[in-house]
Amino acid sequence: MSSDTKIACVMVGLPARGKTYIAQKVCRYLQWLSVSTKVFNVGNYRRKLHGAHQMHSFFDPNNKEGEIARREAASEALKDMLRWFEDENGTVAIFDATNSTRERRFFILNHCKKQNIQVIFIESVCQDENLILQNIMDVKLSSPDYKDMDPEKAAEDFRARISHYEEAYETITENDYTYIKLINVGSQVVINMIQGYLQSRIVYYLMNLHIMPRSIFFSRHGESIFNLLGKIGGDSDLSPRGRKYANALPKLIHEHLGNQPLTVWTSTMRRTIQTAEALPYTKLQWKALDELDAGVCDGMTYEEIEERYPEDYSNRDEDKFNYRYRGGESYRDVVLRLEPVIMELERQQNILIVGHQAILRCIYAYFHNLPHDDLPYIKIPLHTIIKLTPKAYGCAEVRYKVDIDAVDTHRPKPQPKPPKPVVNGNSISSSNLTNVTS
Ligand code: ATP
Ligand code: F6P
Repeated sequence: MSSDTKIACVMVGLPARGKTYIAQKVCRYLQWLSVSTKVFNVGNYRRKLHGAHQMHSFFDPNNKEGEIARREAASEALKDMLRWFEDENGTVAIFDATNSTRERRFFILNHCKKQNIQVIFIESVCQDENLILQNIMDVKLSSPDYKDMDPEKAAEDFRARISHYEEAYETITENDYTYIKLINVGSQVVINMIQGYLQSRIVYYLMNLHIMPRSIFFSRHGESIFNLLGKIGGDSDLSPRGRKYANALPKLIHEHLGNQPLTVWTSTMRRTIQTAEALPYTKLQWKALDELDAGVCDGMTYEEIEERYPEDYSNRDEDKFNYRYRGGESYRDVVLRLEPVIMELERQQNILIVGHQAILRCIYAYFHNLPHDDLPYIKIPLHTIIKLTPKAYGCAEVRYKVDIDAVDTHRPKPQPKPPKPVVNGNSISSSNLTNVTS
């Protein structure tokens, strides 16, 4: 990917077709991969410019005033998007609106072309009436558009809004445009003129999404001998308490999953394989799930690292996400090697990952959209099951702490050192402080 690649993903489709859902997911995925990405939601601009409580007649294509007001909201959002590319050097913007006429798409494309921004249209087509109704119930009734309104009236109004859009809707047939058309949640996909690495990644990601209900379980391996000794890395066996956790796991998972099918993923390390041993489900080992490689520090305690590599130790504290162990990895490296795991997770149904502290932090941050600075400090304790259940625009989470003791391996974020006192623009060290002040 060349560093000056700029892409606008322009959503297309009738209301309640999952456009915002898709926009948010693509944004989360790319931000997790460190691609600077931002969503521009035209609905938010409309509410800001013209108020939240617009009834369906506002969206009637024959309502001239409504038409002008909606065009204004789209123009404002587009202006901000173009400015964001220019001023903040953004890479991928997602323009989230219906963009359901040829005229509107032409308008957006023309403006983007002038700034050398590639445009990829992402259209969601859905003919499943039950799903559309479900979407209205799940997300539209709680939208600010219908705050404090009777749910039945709100649903009726929203259906009337959809009918107005249907009157003017033109599905994409512009053969010279770059587009992906997702039909009935990706049961059929049409792609046209996709080019370049980043566009292909986005398309591949979109092709793997599904919305079937499922849960993703995380558990670290049971406590290991190295955990007990305070050593990092290695490939040690479970401690007696860790084995107890492994033996308790099948009953606990069954309690929270019932008789639903499940696949268990482990790393290739002994401690995760031993933890999963008694689980009566299909298992898969992933090399990509092996713990962050601590390089020359593998097998040391944090105290030993501080003593032998003091500079590295403090560099890691300064910027833990980017710090790469000598001969080993950084959290940033781990995120990149986990990308295929995330892609596969999107395709799958119920999955239990029996993993490691750093690895589970990276995967957890993807699902909760957590910033890179916070990612290496996320608390994923031993002997705890975390259950994530994807919802319309995020994930619900439940944690079950298992009643088997284990050591705590979490090192909190060090407090920033107090700034050195400054005299006449020069910072002074504490050793010469008395000289200066006396
Ligand atoms: P609007 O135009 O009113 O903003 P929208 O198209 O942005 O509507 P969303 O708000 O994204 O619709 O709808 C969210 C719901 O869509 C979620 O409950 C999600 O499960 C569902 N969904 C996700 N992907 C799809 C899809 N490809 N087709 C239909 N529904 C989908
Ligand atoms: O201590 C357990 C462990 O999984 C180590 O093997 C690994 O190096 C460490 O956690 C990762 O956590 P942190 O990034 O906080 O050092």
